Amino acid sequence: MAELSKNYDVFFFLILLLLSLTSQLSLARPSKEPKPCKHIVLHMHDVIFNGNDSANATGAAVTGPVGLGPFGFGQVFIFDNPMTKDQNLLSPPAARAQGFYFYQMKTAPSTWMAFTLVFNSTEYKGTLNVMGSNFIPAKTRYLSVVGGTGDFFMARGILELETDDFVLSVYFRVKMDVKLYECY
Ligand SMILES: *[C@@H]1O[C@H](CO)[C@@H](O)[C@H](O)[C@H]1NC(C)=O
Ligand SMILES: *[C@@H]1O[C@H](CO)[C@@H](O)[C@H](O)[C@H]1NC(C)=O
Ligand SMILES: *[C@@H]1O[C@H](CO)[C@@H](O)[C@H](O)[C@H]1NC(C)=O
Repeated sequence: MAELSKNYDVFFFLILLLLSLTSQLSLARPSKEPKPCKHIVLHMHDVIFNGNDSANATGAAVTGPVGLGPFGFGQVFIFDNPMTKDQNLLSPPAARAQGFYFYQMKTAPSTWMAFTLVFNSTEYKGTLNVMGSNFIPAKTRYLSVVGGTGDFFMARGILELETDDFVLSVYFRVKMDVKLYECY
């Protein structure tokens, strides 16, 4: 009888051990949000052409707004903007952002963006292609990195966008937090 209850003790000990191991395994499982395989933070500077400063400007309106609401609906801008590692416009560019955006909401300031991040430095050579809706009132906006070339061959990920600085019709600077989840 004593032998039997000893066996039961061992049995329950093993069950408890198994339970604690599986609970630890489930804690160790990756969370829903995977870790990026590459993470790059850059600041994009857009000096908007005022009709005069052609030496300094890197972006310009190519149409007027169409007059549907006060938020520039339909107005298209193009840009070839420097991207720096810190917030200083005069720091050496780490990449360029080349593309366009247009205001696409009647009821709020919001742009639809499509652009290429062009890297041509000793650190990276290649491109990342980005697109998505940029609802400016939100602190953080999320654009899709839909593909890449060179050092970013077939890359995919998310670009988190935050406004650093904004002077209407003059200048804006945005922080771009590039998180790639597919790297080759
Ligand atoms: C354009 O440049 C001229 C000459 O430098 C200057 O006098 C004028 O104020 C400038 N206009 C604007 C809108 O910046
Ligand atoms: C270029 O534009 C930036 C942003 O508006 C401004 O701070 C800077 O003084 C300008 N530089 C020249 C040379 O006009
Ligand atoms: C990249 O840099 C090299 C060397 O400075 C230059 O010859 C080439 O034209 C650049 N390419 C682009 C796309 O800017």
